[in-house]
Amino acid sequence: MLRIANALEAQLRAAMQRAFPEQAAAAQAAGQRLDPQLAPASKPEFGDFQANGALPLAKPLGQPPRAIATAIVAQLAHDPGFAELCQEPVIAGPGFINLTLRPERLSAEVRARLDDPRLGVPSAADPSGGSQASPVVVDFSSPNIAKEMHVGHLRSTIIGDCLARVLAFRGHPVLRLNHVGDWGTQFGMLITHLKQVAPQALDTADAVDLGDLVAFYRQAKARFDEDEVFQAASRDEVVRLQSGDPVSLKAWGLLCDQSRREFQVIYDRLDIRLQERGESFYNPYLGDVVADLDGSGLLVTDDGARCVFLEGVSGKEGKPLPVIVQKRDGGFNYATTDLAAIRYRLAAPPAGDGARRLIYVTDAGQAAHFAGVFQVARRAGWVPAEAQLEHVPFGLVQGDDGKKLKTRSGDTVRLRDLLDEAVERAEADLRRRLDDEGRHEEEAFIQHVSTTVGIAAVKYADLSTNRITNYQFSFDRMLALSGNTAPYLLYAVVRIAGIARKGGGAAEGGAAAAAQDGADAGLVFSEPQEWALIRELLKLDAVIAEVEEELLPNRLCSYLFELSQVFNRFYDQVPVLKADEPARSSRLALCRLTAATLKLGLGLLGIPTLERM
Ligand code: ARG
Repeated sequence: MLRIANALEAQLRAAMQRAFPEQAAAAQAAGQRLDPQLAPASKPEFGDFQANGALPLAKPLGQPPRAIATAIVAQLAHDPGFAELCQEPVIAGPGFINLTLRPERLSAEVRARLDDPRLGVPSAADPSGGSQASPVVVDFSSPNIAKEMHVGHLRSTIIGDCLARVLAFRGHPVLRLNHVGDWGTQFGMLITHLKQVAPQALDTADAVDLGDLVAFYRQAKARFDEDEVFQAASRDEVVRLQSGDPVSLKAWGLLCDQSRREFQVIYDRLDIRLQERGESFYNPYLGDVVADLDGSGLLVTDDGARCVFLEGVSGKEGKPLPVIVQKRDGGFNYATTDLAAIRYRLAAPPAGDGARRLIYVTDAGQAAHFAGVFQVARRAGWVPAEAQLEHVPFGLVQGDDGKKLKTRSGDTVRLRDLLDEAVERAEADLRRRLDDEGRHEEEAFIQHVSTTVGIAAVKYADLSTNRITNYQFSFDRMLALSGNTAPYLLYAVVRIAGIARKGGGAAEGGAAAAAQDGADAGLVFSEPQEWALIRELLKLDAVIAEVEEELLPNRLCSYLFELSQVFNRFYDQVPVLKADEPARSSRLALCRLTAATLKLGLGLLGIPTLERM
């Protein structure tokens, strides 16, 4: 209903300007406009919207706000556009203007959505067809090579994917970037270890698999910590790698490939598409970053390290905190790479991505890191005024007990085990339910449903909590068939789609089919449960705009859950299949639109729906 809200706001403002021309002129002189303060109604009985703009005018005009509201409403009466949208406004309380949309307007909106694959959600793509919209970068997932992808990376992957889907649906070109940790001093010890224990691996690509690689990392680290000769060799190896030695590069490439294959297994299971652009990509630009910062006078040498001191951020004892861009030994840091990445992503193509919104999805523990590099990038002048740099933080994943998520034996949980368990439990639940219902299904059906439900449950559980808070991982809760869960929503889609099918089926014969054809022309609604469902359905565009703006997927989840509940109330209290025409077709149309809305919403969460379950 964003389009209607925008139209109403314009009509209200015009009415205010006509009612109080001097006030409007004064506002304009101050570079402002009269603000109708339009908002959704605080309670359904107040209608659809309320406009509170009369209240702040009371003082400057020296009039009671109710009188001001009355004058605005009198002007609205002269606007035929307004009369088409709204019923007679009601002035309430100290001077609120309550607005209720005309029922035929609401029906028309429903009708328009029934034929619209976007369900009324506008695409932000430049309608003038002129300049191509600038891309949005979503930097997410981003595990580290030769280490296992952990639950923090899983959260980043699920949240980042959802945000990328929403932004893409809104018409933005989205760059889904996997900023993998594929560079840095740890490769010195990894390559040294590789050359010593598995020299043959340098000839065959498949000699090491990731299970080994993680243990391999641990061994290399242990040797590095104990053995000084090994340490020295590792440091030499870093230098060799950075100077492009072919054998070192080959070993590095092998380690990366092994990790990559393992990460890809997880991405495939979660249906995640990502473009890998790891830290190593920015290597050639690190020197430019330092030179640039030096040129703009930001760089300070402190104890041999080159750093930028942050403004407005101080550490212990009130000393300003530095972002170290080059260490005393000449090496670069995680922050240097992120500075190079910001610079590259904002720079115009072909030397950069030309992006205007950079979104980073990582745990909240990296908030200070991003605040620091964002500040340095701004002060270096790399960030155009209209560009947005956003860190999208999320909390920790905890076990049922509120402590760090661990296996029963106390080990860290491996992602594939976690996904396996979700699917296995979904399968056990399904088999139990099929037994109870005396249903017989093909094995392929059982596998398909269990996999879809299991993965959906993991994704939805993560997305439906406010990402900022820590999140308690519980298989029992996420797989429950009731409550704000994936199985509940998937089941709602199945049920509603089933009703719509039954009602719209050709098997119903002439009268029903004819009514179906005529449905779009003659939607007739009368019951409060119908209007409640319609109003809920029409919120979709506003909810998606909100997610796009605030980057909070849980808003979309809450909406889909609320919609399912409003639908259930409607379906429990109002006859649909047994109703007479034209109510029957109109109600079936609402069923269809509800199913389509849930499907679209779940799709934006990265969750495919099922026909049956
Ligand atoms: N590899 C990092 C980690 O595992 C996350 C990288 C996030 N992205 C970035 N541009 N810094 O913590």
